[in-house]
Amino acid sequence: MVFPEYRPRRLRKNESLRSLIRETHLSPAQFVYPVFIAPGKNKREEIPSMPGVFRLSVDQLQKEARECMDLGVNSMILFGLPEKKDAMGSGAHAKDGIIQRGIKELKNKAPELTVITDVCLCEYTDHGHCGCLIGDTVDNDATLEILAKTALSHAQAGADMVAPSDMMDGRVAEIRAALDEHNYEMIPIMSYAVKYASSFYGPFRDAADCAPQFGDRRSYQMDPANVREALREATLDVDEGADILMVKPAVAYLDIISRLKDEFDLPIAAYHVSGEYAMIKAAAERGWIDGDKVMAETLLSIKRAGADIILTYFAKDMARLLQG
Ligand code: PBG
Repeated sequence: MVFPEYRPRRLRKNESLRSLIRETHLSPAQFVYPVFIAPGKNKREEIPSMPGVFRLSVDQLQKEARECMDLGVNSMILFGLPEKKDAMGSGAHAKDGIIQRGIKELKNKAPELTVITDVCLCEYTDHGHCGCLIGDTVDNDATLEILAKTALSHAQAGADMVAPSDMMDGRVAEIRAALDEHNYEMIPIMSYAVKYASSFYGPFRDAADCAPQFGDRRSYQMDPANVREALREATLDVDEGADILMVKPAVAYLDIISRLKDEFDLPIAAYHVSGEYAMIKAAAERGWIDGDKVMAETLLSIKRAGADIILTYFAKDMARLLQG
């Protein structure tokens, strides 16, 4: 089958033929839109390094949910900016904490929306690390208890799914046990199973005010150089009871997404993170790239690599583009 018998261009002749043989499709129902919830009223504050993304006060959430759902984006993941931070991150599991209030508002006003919560302490600790400290290291086992309390408080407020992003060892099992013990056995866990110590999280740390006050996250997040360790992390989370496995970031780790898709039969999620979003926005603002086209191509590449679910700040923009 060599030229001129076989001509790949035959099937590229027009859009009808191209779409007939298209292998990968994006669907807004598989996007998760990240939302930052901040104290105050009537607040809609644009994040400087993430144009088009806002910190919203609780009263603004209903409108945001409506906008998402009208576009076919039925899931949100929530991040909170608490009023006060402390060494133990106690705001993360406060009954009337910022996230707990946000969940209640969304489940009251937009019950069909799937509300996913990020379970981590870094937005709530005054030192900015993802767990409580012993000296200047994060105390793994003491942190597990706080994470489980946090996940449980999210479920009690009405969350549909919890997503631990802290990278402590054993947290999926601990969270699963706490949920089951309180009759939340039907709440799924989307584990940030493979989360790298990445420099692409910069804008998020501005947005959520959670940059570590000393050191970095390399003693708990993964080394960008490692693939086999990613498989080990994912295996652990499957054994501990994860329902969905996430890879984060996405574009710089397409090989990892592809490996997980091959090796595991759970749904695979990928987080197209703040820095990945900001780079496209910044280049598009300068007129150096076509922002919409690069967005579409980027999200397609994540899907093609094997992600079933994409967490992305582009969720609404991409859904709009798909609607034409
Ligand atoms: C919390 C968390 C982070 C992100 C998601 N959950 C920050 C971090 O680990 O530093 C990053 C998301 C993004 O960059 O868009 N631990």
